[in-house]
Amino acid sequence: MRASRGLGLQMVKDLVKQNERPKKIIATARNPATAEELQEITRSFTGVHIITLDVVSESSIHSASEEVASIVGKEGLNCLINNAAINISTDLKTVTVEAMMKTFESNAVAPLMVTKAFLPHLQAAAGQNTGMGVHRAAVINVSSILGSIQLNWGDGAQFKSYAYRTSKSALNMITRCLATDLEAEGILCLALHPGWVRTDMGGPQAPLTPEESISSLLSVISSLTEKEHGGYMDYSGNKLPW
Ligand SMILES: NC(=O)c1ccc[n+]([C@@H]2O[C@H](COP(=O)([O-])OP(=O)(O)OC[C@H]3O[C@@H](n4cnc5c(N)ncnc54)[C@H](OP(=O)(O)O)[C@@H]3O)[C@@H](O)[C@H]2O)c1
Repeated sequence: MRASRGLGLQMVKDLVKQNERPKKIIATARNPATAEELQEITRSFTGVHIITLDVVSESSIHSASEEVASIVGKEGLNCLINNAAINISTDLKTVTVEAMMKTFESNAVAPLMVTKAFLPHLQAAAGQNTGMGVHRAAVINVSSILGSIQLNWGDGAQFKSYAYRTSKSALNMITRCLATDLEAEGILCLALHPGWVRTDMGGPQAPLTPEESISSLLSVISSLTEKEHGGYMDYSGNKLPW
């Protein structure tokens, strides 16, 4: 998971304190040297690894995948959380080709390419268990309610961003494509909206704190089964319309 700040960092902070926490937690950052809070966590808790990953760089994805292999070994990877994203506000007047392409690359193409590169690690974990869920193997794509085409109407249409909204709709479709492709291997795939949260992206007026969002989101993730496979949900476990 991308974990230098915001929701990714909060996920790591929560996970290390859980009673039944994962033995190994791999946090990624574009620049680990400046991710000071993450560094502090690795000093205080065992089993937390920080690796470098810029999700829009193919060579960085390749190196990160090799590093993950050396950390997880034959046990493989039980859960990949694609959390990194950017938000460039773009209404009809300000939208540009560059904003559309850059946002699509970070928010839709990158999670697909990371999943593709990390697939052998997920398959290794999936081969060792039955059923569906994070006890076996799962891909969680951190999406947004703003990616819902159905909800982009009336009050739901107030947030204007062609780039961000379409990138998250595309991520939802990618999640669905992955879900059909990976079902036979027992790898659960889900698009998850974390709520509107007070991070750099969510801004100070957001109603939820990162702590509130992530404690709820992690409890949803830990109880996923085949029933949720291929779905689109929010941090409370409510189904969202595509
Ligand atoms: N906050 C909300 O209200 C809200 C609502 C709905 C959905 N979401 C979704 O939740 C996720 C996390 O959002 P957030 O609120 O935590 O955002 P944030 O505070 O802006 O943090 C974004 C994170 O993404 C990383 N990132 C961006 N581009 C990257 C790249 N090319 N390679 C590696 N890392 C990259 C950033 O790393 P650096 O520190 O290196 O920049 C940072 O860790 C996103 O998918 C977002 O769309 C958020």
